This record gives sequence, C-alpha cells and structure tokens, in this order.
Amino acid sequence: MKNTIFVLEEGSPKYQQIYEKFKSFIERGDIRPNDRLPSIRQLADSLHVSRNTTLTAYEQLVAEGYIRGEGRKGYFVNEVEPLLFQENENPHRKKQTALKKMPVINFRGDAVDQAHFPLKIWRRMANQVLTWQDSFRYGEPFGEEVLREQIAKYLFQSRGVKTNANAIIIGSSTQQMLVYLGQILKEEFQSIIVEDPGYDGAREAFQFHRFEFETLPVHETGADLSQLKQMNSRLLYVTPSHQSPIGVSLSIQQRQMLIQWVNERCGYIIEDDYDSEFRYTQKPFPALASIDAARVIYLGNFSKSFLPGLRLAYMVLPEPILSQYQKHFAYFESSTSLLSQLTMAKFMESGEWNRHIKRMRLVYKRKVSHLVAELRKHFGPTITIIGEQSGLYLLIKLHLNHSEEWLIQRASSCGVKVYPTSLYFMNNHTDRPIIKIGFSHLSIDEIDLGVELLKKAWVGEKDIETPTAKGGGLSRSENL
Ligand SMILES: Cc1ncc(COP(=O)(O)O)c(C=O)c1O
Repeated sequence: MKNTIFVLEEGSPKYQQIYEKFKSFIERGDIRPNDRLPSIRQLADSLHVSRNTTLTAYEQLVAEGYIRGEGRKGYFVNEVEPLLFQENENPHRKKQTALKKMPVINFRGDAVDQAHFPLKIWRRMANQVLTWQDSFRYGEPFGEEVLREQIAKYLFQSRGVKTNANAIIIGSSTQQMLVYLGQILKEEFQSIIVEDPGYDGAREAFQFHRFEFETLPVHETGADLSQLKQMNSRLLYVTPSHQSPIGVSLSIQQRQMLIQWVNERCGYIIEDDYDSEFRYTQKPFPALASIDAARVIYLGNFSKSFLPGLRLAYMVLPEPILSQYQKHFAYFESSTSLLSQLTMAKFMESGEWNRHIKRMRLVYKRKVSHLVAELRKHFGPTITIIGEQSGLYLLIKLHLNHSEEWLIQRASSCGVKVYPTSLYFMNNHTDRPIIKIGFSHLSIDEIDLGVELLKKAWVGEKDIETPTAKGGGLSRSENL
C-alpha cells in the first residue's frame, strides 16, 4: 500500500481516527498480511496532519499487534489472530464500521486551505512576538498602529484606497464592527438598504440596533441599482467586489453611479470587501472607497484571505464618523488579540502576506476550475453554476424540480454536506433552489469524490446507501 487518503472528522482525535481506519482496513482484508504501510511522512502529508499524529496511530497499532515496525524498511501488516477479529465482531461494532466506511465530504464555506497555510513562518513570527516586552500589555483601543500602517499600505496597493493609519479601526470581525458602527450611525439614520439576497450576518448586526430595512434586489446579472431612486434610506450596505452570496461584481460605471447617489443623498455606503483578494478571471476592480472615500465606510477582514479563527478585521472610517467613533469608544478595550495583531503586522511587513495572497489565489483558482469542470461533466445542463470568477464558494442552481431541503438532505444521506441559500433571501425569491458549496479547504481528490456523491444523490436514484453524514441541524457559522 503506497498511500491512502480519507476524510478526518471533527470531534475525535485525529490519531485515533487514523488508528481506527487502518485497524478496519486490516480487519476487512483491504490491506493484506505483510503489506507495507505508507511511511509516517507520506501518510502525514497526504492527510495534512503532523508526523506525530501518524506516528501515534502506528504506535497504537503496533502495541495491539496489528502491525510491526521493521526499522528503516517501514511498517508491515501482521497476520491477525482470529481472536482479534472476534472481539470486534459484535453487530453493533459491525454497523458502526459500515457507517464509517462512507466518506463525508463537507462543502463548507467557512474554512480556508490548510495545506498551503504558512504555518512555519507564522509560528516563528508569533514566537518572536511573544519575546517582545511590548506584547505584555493590553492593546490600543482602535488597534495596533504597526498593523494599521501595514493595512493602509496594503489597501492603497491592492484596492486603490488612499488612507492612513489614523482612519483605520481594527476589530475582531465584520459583525462586531458593524455592531459598534451601528451605535454611531443610528444617531442619524433609522433605516438601511441591504442587498437581497445578502449577507445575513450583516443584517443581524443592523437588526441589533433596530434599523429598518429596504432591499436592493440582486440577480445573477447584477444588482438592480435603478431601484435606489425610489428608496428613502440614505445608508446602504453593499458587497460590490463579490456580491454575497450571488458572486457578481459591480462594474466601474455602477460604482460611479453609487458614489453619485450617496453624494446626492448626503448618506453613507458601507462597502464590505470581504474576499476581494480572490478574483480569478481578471484583476480586481478598485474598491468604491478608492473612487471617493468621503462617503464610504470600507470594511475588510483576514478571515478569507488568511485564517477565520484569527478573528481579525478592520474598517476605514471617513470624517465625521471617525471622530464620533473615536469619542464614543475611547474607553473600550480592543476586542481583538494584541499578539495576533503584532504577528500580522510583522507578517505583512516582511512581504510574506503578499506572497501568501499570490500563492492562495493560484491554489483556489486551481480548485475552483477543477470543481466547475467536474460539476459540468457530471451535471451538464441540469445545473447553472454561479459565481465561479471569485471567492471561496460557488452557487449551483438546480433545474431538477426538487426543493432546497430535499437536495440538502439527499446529499447528506450520500455522505456529502452542502448548504442552503434561502436564508440570504428576503423578498427577492429565486425560481429554482440554489445550493452553496465551498471548496477552499478540500483537496482535488475530495472535490472529485464530493461531486460524484452529489451526482449519486441528486441524479442517480439507485445505489444510495444508508445515511452516514454528520447529523444535526446546521449552525449559523456552518451556513456561511
Ligand atoms: C459578506 C461577508 N462579509 C464578511 C464576512 C466575514 O466576516 P468575519 O469578519 O466575521 O469573518 C463574511 C463571511 O462569510 C461575509 O459573507
């Protein structure tokens, strides 16, 4: 056996899952006595785990007599005593093995690629930061100046936004910053225009302050900006570079229209530029805030471009919102980690950030092209693919006369998890169900398997095995 790949699930230690997998391979005869197992390093590389993890799993198998180590030659499967089998052959155990056999591919949209994460460099820099005396204090309320300076440079280079460190506020997430910002904006504004469909996380934040909503319809062809004239609100929340969730971008002409609209109304546009780094077919459009920053509140984050669990986001505030914000929150402690901010500043300053973005753009481009090709191959005209030009997920509209719920459950029963989009819609409902599938964290092999399972679930009615996917409802973060 040269190598193998299987999906590791959340919830139990990885070494244990690897140990159990090999144990069942051996018990079922999938690996024969005296076969050589993949090396510790090969297995760790293909499963994206540490060598310690694979070593621990192998040590457990050695201790139980399933395999033996032969020094530099590697690990080999032992002749297994019948007794060893019988112990495990109770019906309950058999059922569990059968259920576990089925792979679970999770097309989640809230994760990033682990294999290309610059772990060593980040760890080295984070360790260095921990030796600085400057790290042993609370952070600055609006974020560390060194990071704000780096963000200002980056925004100018990559998004055309001219700003300076003083106008930037660092927070822990887009939602957290929208909640804080809402506290200032609600003094002047009672309502806000949001995209429909649109990012539910932003709506939650506005709802927290009881803003009334007006909705701007967004179609697969783009946002219907002509509707803005009839609306009363002077405040607009948009995702112009990669509309969330439809994936369309506003053209330069549409951006100019928006700037004109907001100037005429003396209002504000909240521009959420959440994943603008990943545009695959052409260069990113400049941000709205690069055309005229006076009436644009610009929001960015490190969740898609780097690591969602870091909880690091920022906004660029125009005057007079900036002064009001600084006055209002001067005595609030920073909500995000000082250590992460200092490490990120160092990472950006050293040039690693730009390298990371370039690398990840290629990695994701390869994955999305592969996913699109596989979907086209397996589904042909029964689906429309939406939003393949950018971002870390795709939408697929299905022309199969099934409901969203049916599609999700059916997929789940075949071992593959996909996500609904109905939660993003307010009034502008879609004629056909649209399913969201994230690809960023999956390998090419996992994408292949996931699409095959989807085909089996949605088109091939035969040969569907018993449910094996992780049960339970979807949490809000899993819906992202
Ligand atoms: C439109 C939009 N903005 C921002 C975010 C990221 O939010 P956070 O800063 O909480 O990671 C998301 C997450 O999916 C999103 O869809």
